[in-house]
Amino acid sequence: MNVLIAFYSRTGYTKELALIIAEELVSKGHEVELEKIEPVKEDNMWPLLWRTQWYWGALALGILSNRYREYFISNYRIPEVDIKPLAHPDVSKYDRVCIGCGKQTIVPCAIEAYLRQVKGLKGKKVGGFATWAGPPLKHFEVEHLFRPIADRLERRGASLVSIVGLSSRYHEYHNQMLNIFEFLSRVRYGKPISYFSVHSDYGRQHIKLFCDELVKGTTDIKDSRGWRRSFQGTGILGVASASPWTTLERMRTRFEKKVLDKA
Ligand SMILES: Cc1cc2nc3c(=O)[nH]c(=O)nc-3n(C[C@H](O)[C@H](O)[C@H](O)COP(=O)(O)O)c2cc1C
Repeated sequence: MNVLIAFYSRTGYTKELALIIAEELVSKGHEVELEKIEPVKEDNMWPLLWRTQWYWGALALGILSNRYREYFISNYRIPEVDIKPLAHPDVSKYDRVCIGCGKQTIVPCAIEAYLRQVKGLKGKKVGGFATWAGPPLKHFEVEHLFRPIADRLERRGASLVSIVGLSSRYHEYHNQMLNIFEFLSRVRYGKPISYFSVHSDYGRQHIKLFCDELVKGTTDIKDSRGWRRSFQGTGILGVASASPWTTLERMRTRFEKKVLDKA
């Protein structure tokens, strides 16, 4: 199979993952080409964070209501930046396309620009890969990044068939951010973030699964193991982010089931 791996990597961590995925695909006999997505002007870290400041309020609201969070994730606007001319502006000759980036609170602006500019996406089966600082938290990492990408691909007639998101254990803003993620990882999974890193056993296994599913080309992302893996279980974060209504609903169903079971 002919595969194009397009990636935007600000600090090099996602590039490293892109190269590992390329190696894995080549070792399975596929032909791989790389597309480095680059903004014309790379912002320094504070304007970059400022650009998404409006998002943080919305994120906080999402903790109160599941419905709002889902609406927001599917509809949030991603600012665009100018990107350098693409080496492969038309992807129609490829059997599969992979798109990768580091999570920048939301989908990076360079990826939004890429998804708008690139031609030949119609009918393509696409794999999405990412690095982020934390563990693969369902609500905060996986959904926030991959759902908007899946929606945008769908609008272009393409489908996201496989995903993988791994920890780079690096956060540009402060080591303190890493400590927060480390804490969340231990609370949610009982494991340090190193467990979910690119070079861990988990990382290697999930990169393999990602490539297998990409090649297989399952058409619905919800069938993708990566998606299911990230969406299984609720854990403490899930409980915290459930709206009071959802929680009451769950309690009611459980209660009814118990009463019915007893009857
Ligand atoms: C603006 C910005 C926002 C970020 N937001 C998150 C985040 O929400 N969650 C997270 O785990 N990491 C976050 N990170 C950390 C990066 O996702 C992480 O360092 C990634 O590995 C960077 O890869 P790259 O430089 O190759 O794109 C953020 C980094 C930046 C610059």
